[in-house]
Amino acid sequence: MVDQRGKFISFEGGDGVGKTTQINLVRQHVENLGHTPVVTREPGGTALSEQIRDLVLESSAEITPITEVLMMFAARAQHVSEVIEPNLAAGNWVLCDRFTDASYAYQGGGRGLPDKLIEGLAGIATNGLEPDLTVLLDLDVEEGIRRSHLRDSPLDRFESEAIEFKNRIRAAYLKRQDSNSTRIVLIDASQSIQEIEMAIAAKIDDLHTKSYG
Ligand code: TYD
Repeated sequence: MVDQRGKFISFEGGDGVGKTTQINLVRQHVENLGHTPVVTREPGGTALSEQIRDLVLESSAEITPITEVLMMFAARAQHVSEVIEPNLAAGNWVLCDRFTDASYAYQGGGRGLPDKLIEGLAGIATNGLEPDLTVLLDLDVEEGIRRSHLRDSPLDRFESEAIEFKNRIRAAYLKRQDSNSTRIVLIDASQSIQEIEMAIAAKIDDLHTKSYG
């Protein structure tokens, strides 16, 4: 047993906001603070959850909104129990590319499922686990689309949705931030990589100081 549980930090935002770049910078920062960072992602992070990810992102079959949200939470339940909880209990810091807020944004805002349903599933799948800190990278939707298209990889089921879908996702994320403004820090992702890095590092330092002195 370690005497202190690790910290759980999630990274959120629409597609093309630069999460991957920032997660790698945070990993280094967390190491410099003397913690062991474990970097993972959703949907995914375990062998089974990565298989669910392939199905839900790449399937050419029609997936109903309710099937989609259940797949996200099936992947999440396994991820929490196999990776997130054991690492937090061991004192490691878990840096997660997306978590339950993404379900509120994509399946709630995007697909129109009620928040209450997502809240209920979160209770079942994660026991209501919430990150200690969530970094929300916010960017104009058209700019996000432009950046996504610069990448070589083919667009997944969500990236190839219409702009209205992406606008609803952005609005849902902002609404979520507004009602959870202590946990979710809003970062303007149109800034330079270095400016964003510094804004996030300041929040991580606060979290570290509060818990470890
Ligand atoms: P992500 O790994 O950010 O995609 P990439 O890095 O390849 O651009 O996320 C995968 C997709 O899954 C993304 O479009 C958002 C979607 N998603 C949901 O719809 N609901 C969820 O609960 C999660 C975790 C992700």
